[in-house]
Amino acid sequence: MPPEPTDGTEPIDGTEPPARGHVPVLRREVVDLLAPPLLGPAAGRPAVAVDLTVGLAGHLRALLDATGEPSPTGDRPPISEWTALRHWDPAAPVAAVGIDRDPEALSLAAAALAGWGHAVRLVHATADRLPDVLSALGLAGADAVLADLGVSSLQLDADRRGFSYARDVGLDMRMDATAELDAATVVDTYTVEELTRVLRAYGEERHAARIARRIVEARAAAPLRTTRQLADLVARAYPRGVTTGGHPAKRTFQALRIEVNAELTGLAATMPAALDALRPGGRLVVLAYHSLEDRIVKQSLAAAARADVPDDLPFVPEGHGPRVRLLTRGAARPGPVELTANPRAASARLRAAERLGPSGPTSSGRALAPRTTAPRPVTGVAA
Ligand SMILES: C[S@@+](CC[C@H](N)C(=O)[O-])C[C@H]1O[C@@H](n2cnc3c(N)ncnc32)[C@H](O)[C@@H]1O
Repeated sequence: MPPEPTDGTEPIDGTEPPARGHVPVLRREVVDLLAPPLLGPAAGRPAVAVDLTVGLAGHLRALLDATGEPSPTGDRPPISEWTALRHWDPAAPVAAVGIDRDPEALSLAAAALAGWGHAVRLVHATADRLPDVLSALGLAGADAVLADLGVSSLQLDADRRGFSYARDVGLDMRMDATAELDAATVVDTYTVEELTRVLRAYGEERHAARIARRIVEARAAAPLRTTRQLADLVARAYPRGVTTGGHPAKRTFQALRIEVNAELTGLAATMPAALDALRPGGRLVVLAYHSLEDRIVKQSLAAAARADVPDDLPFVPEGHGPRVRLLTRGAARPGPVELTANPRAASARLRAAERLGPSGPTSSGRALAPRTTAPRPVTGVAA
C-alpha cells in the first residue's frame, strides 16, 4: 500500500506535536552505509562526500564525525557561489560538499558545521546541478552521496513559509525563497485542467477535478491567499461522508508543494547525475518521504543495477554490465524507537546502491570494506 502523503504536519485542529529539535532520519543507517567508501584508502586525495540536500546538516555532521577530522579552530564552512571554492585543506581526510536550494538552511548548516570550515563547502543550488557544482569545485567525482528529500523541519515549522495547513499563513511553499513560482501563483493562475493535473499527479487526489473547480470558482470572487482559506475550501469540496484518514487538504498541499518546487522532475534529473558522479566503490543513499519520489528512486536504482542488454543476449558485452549493486533489499524504514522519538520519520524509505567498477565490484582497487568500522546490514522490509 502506498504510504499516506505527508507534508509532515498533523491535523489542523491543533494536535500537531511540538517540534522536537533536529533529528536526522535513519542517521545510524545513513552513516553506516556511507562511511565505508570515505574510510577506504584514497590515493593522494581526500575522500569526497556530497550531501545534495544538506538542510540543517544533521546527516552530514554525523558522517563527518564518523570519518573526518575537525579543525580545532571552530571555523564555519563558507557559503558560496560556485567559484573560488577550490581550496581544500590537502591534509583533510574528507572533503565534503553540502548543497541546498534554501539559503536559510545553508546558514544554519554552516553553524551546525562549525569546526569543519577546512573540509566543507556549502553551495546554493538544486541537487540536479551536481555535475556543475563538482566541476566548479574542481572535483572529478564523489565517494559518498546523500539525498534526504523533501522539506526540512525548519521549513515545515517556519511560520511564514506556508508548507503546512496547520498554520494560517500566506500560500508560499517555496523551498528557495528566491525562486519565482509560489503556491499563491499556482492557485491564482492555473486553469481547472492544470490544477486537476497537479492534484491528480502529485497528490494522487481522487477528487482533483472537484477541488480544482472549487478553487477556480472561489478565486473569481476573491483570490485565495492563505493556507487556511485553501484548507477550508478543500474540506468543503470533499464529498460528504468521505474520510481521508487525515485532513482532507493533505494531498492538495503535497501536490502544490511538489509543483512549486518541481520536486519530481528535479529528482528524475538528480538520480542519474548522482549515479554518474560516483567513483567505483562510491555509494549513494536516498531517503524519500512519499510514494511518488520513492518510485523514481527505486526505478532509477533498479535500472542501474541491471545489465544494459537485451534479455535474449547470452553474454554481457564490456561496458554494458550493471553500474551499481543494491545495498538495500526493498527500502529500509525507521523502527519503532526512532518513530517514538521522531514521528515525522514515519513515511521515510531509504534506498542505497554502490557503484561498480568497469568489470565488477572491486575493479577500482580501492577497498570497499571500511578500515575502521563494519557496516551494519540495513534491513529492508518494504517492496
Ligand atoms: C529533509 S531536509 C534535509 C535534512 C538534512 N538531511 C539534515 O540532516 O539536516 C531536505 C532539505 O533539502 C533541500 N532540498 C529539497 N529538494 C532539494 C533539491 N532538489 N535541491 C537542493 N536542495 C533541496 C530542502 O531545502 C531542505 O533543506
